[in-house]
Parts: sequence; C-alpha cells; structure tokens
Amino acid sequence: MRIEDSVALVTGAGRGLGRALAHGLVERGARIVYGAARDPAAVTERGVVPVTLDITDPGSVARVAEQCRDADLLVNNAGVMTFSPLIGAPTLDGARLEMQTNYFATLAMCRAFAPVLAANGGGALVNVLSIVSWFTNPVNGTYGASKAAEWAMTNGIRIELAAQGTLVVAVHAGFIDTDMAARIDAPKISPADVAGQVLDAVEAGQIEVLADERTRQVKASLSRDHELIYPAVQARWDTDHPMRPGGQPGGADGAPE
Ligand SMILES: NC(=O)c1ccc[n+]([C@@H]2O[C@H](COP(=O)([O-])OP(=O)(O)OC[C@H]3O[C@@H](n4cnc5c(N)ncnc54)[C@H](OP(=O)(O)O)[C@@H]3O)[C@@H](O)[C@H]2O)c1
Repeated sequence: MRIEDSVALVTGAGRGLGRALAHGLVERGARIVYGAARDPAAVTERGVVPVTLDITDPGSVARVAEQCRDADLLVNNAGVMTFSPLIGAPTLDGARLEMQTNYFATLAMCRAFAPVLAANGGGALVNVLSIVSWFTNPVNGTYGASKAAEWAMTNGIRIELAAQGTLVVAVHAGFIDTDMAARIDAPKISPADVAGQVLDAVEAGQIEVLADERTRQVKASLSRDHELIYPAVQARWDTDHPMRPGGQPGGADGAPE
C-alpha cells in the first residue's frame, strides 16, 4: 500500500520504536498519523496526533477504534518485557503481563481494527514481534512465549484478513536501541533503521521483516534449532548468568534478545 496519503495508527508512539515509526510515517507523507500512548503527553513527534490508548483496556481499545475509524494502517508496536525466567521468576506476574499485553491486547487491537481496515479498502496491519518468537532464552523466557503466541496469531489473522485485502506484516528483530533493551550490552539496531524497513515492507506488500543479520540467521536455522541455536543459549545460561539461581551479577551477558 502507499503510505503517502494513508491514515496510520501507531501504538506505543511516545518512545522507542513506536516513536521512530510515527516519525517515518510523517516523513513519508501519511495524511494523518495517530500516535497512541497511555499518556498522550508523551507523543511529541512533529505532525503526530496524540491519542490516549491502553491496549489492555477493552473500553480504551473500542474508543480508539471509533476515534480512528479513518485508519487504513495499524501498527501494533506497544509491548512489554519483564526479564522473567520461566522457572526462576518468583511469581507468574511477568508472564501474565507479557501475555496480556503482547498477545491478548494486541489480538484485541487486531479484532477492533479489522472492520475499520476493511471499510477503508483493506490497508495494512503490522505486528512488531521479535527474534524470540522463534526460540526461547530463559533470561526472558516468558516474553519469548508471549512473542511466539503473537507470531502464531499474526499468521492466523493474515489468513483471515486476506479476503478483505489487508496486508499483514510480521516484524522480527534482535536488540533494538530503546529503553526495553537499555540494560543489554550487545550490538543493537537503531529504531530508525527498523522503522524504515517496516515502512518499506508495507509499501512493497511484503509480509515479513527480518530486521538484522542475527534474526535472519535464526530464522534460517529453525529446522535445526536444537543443534544450531539452543546449545549456545544453554552454555550462556550454565556458565554464569546473573539471572540464573546462584548467578553472579556482571557474569555472562546471556543476551536475551
Ligand atoms: N527493544 C528491543 O530490543 C526489541 C527487540 C525486538 C522487538 N521489540 C518489540 O518492539 C516493540 C517496541 O518496543 P521498544 O523497543 O520501543 O520498547 P519500549 O521503549 O519499552 O517501548 C514500549 C512501548 O510500548 C508501550 N506500551 C506498553 N504497554 C502498553 C499498554 N498496555 N498500552 C499502550 N502502550 C503500551 C509503552 O508505553 P509507555 O511509555 O506508556 O510505557 C512504550 O511506548 C515491542 O513490541 C517490543 O516487544 C523490541
């Protein structure tokens, strides 16, 4: 689809990748860019219309679907990561928050906006997933599970929405240089780079974005994941991971991705 003259809604637009996506949409000539955030005062990007949205609140989602009923491009960018191991986390709170936000709330946004996109000619829907949609690192094991669920959901809605002409784009990336990955000391791709690739994909009608080399490698290794991916993850966890029971602060980085 053409971004020029489109009407786009980006969730989590107050910072990080969402802010870069909103900026890119304005730069490419979108007619309206709604920038959604729990605190609309955080949406300060020039040319972006602030919208109040908590994606986990069904009333808020319904209100925004009504307010933005002219949208033909939805970017589900909002997400959370709590750095919770599956067994080692003290409670299920992180797992619940991530599944609630990254899976259930994003699915609720897709359901609320499917008829809006249909009414506006089909348009496009983008879900921001992760490299850990495809493998689990215990450092953020509960987050990986939520992103795997979101990936499965994205593949299903693509099939369901094909008849109404909606392009469904899955975005996978390793570390992006935002608040979410701030505590990680590893190479990161810039939010502007990822945003540019996402918008290129929308304009090209491409269903998947593999934003960096590590993400492309992991996707290509999936049929041999227990040979090519998991031994290194296990070794990092076993060596001296600070989040492993008994692990030392400042030990191996454990790259959570
Ligand atoms: N950073 C990475 O390394 C990385 C890698 C791969 C994929 N991703 C994915 O990229 C997306 C953007 O993340 P980011 O890196 O930009 O992280 P970020 O800087 O932590 O930003 C997360 C955004 O999501 C919003 N959000 C969280 N819960 C929300 C809710 N219930 N309702 C509405 N907005 C909510 C936040 O809003 P508030 O400001 O109100 O908290 C914030 O704008 C996420 O889906 C993330 O999983 C990130």
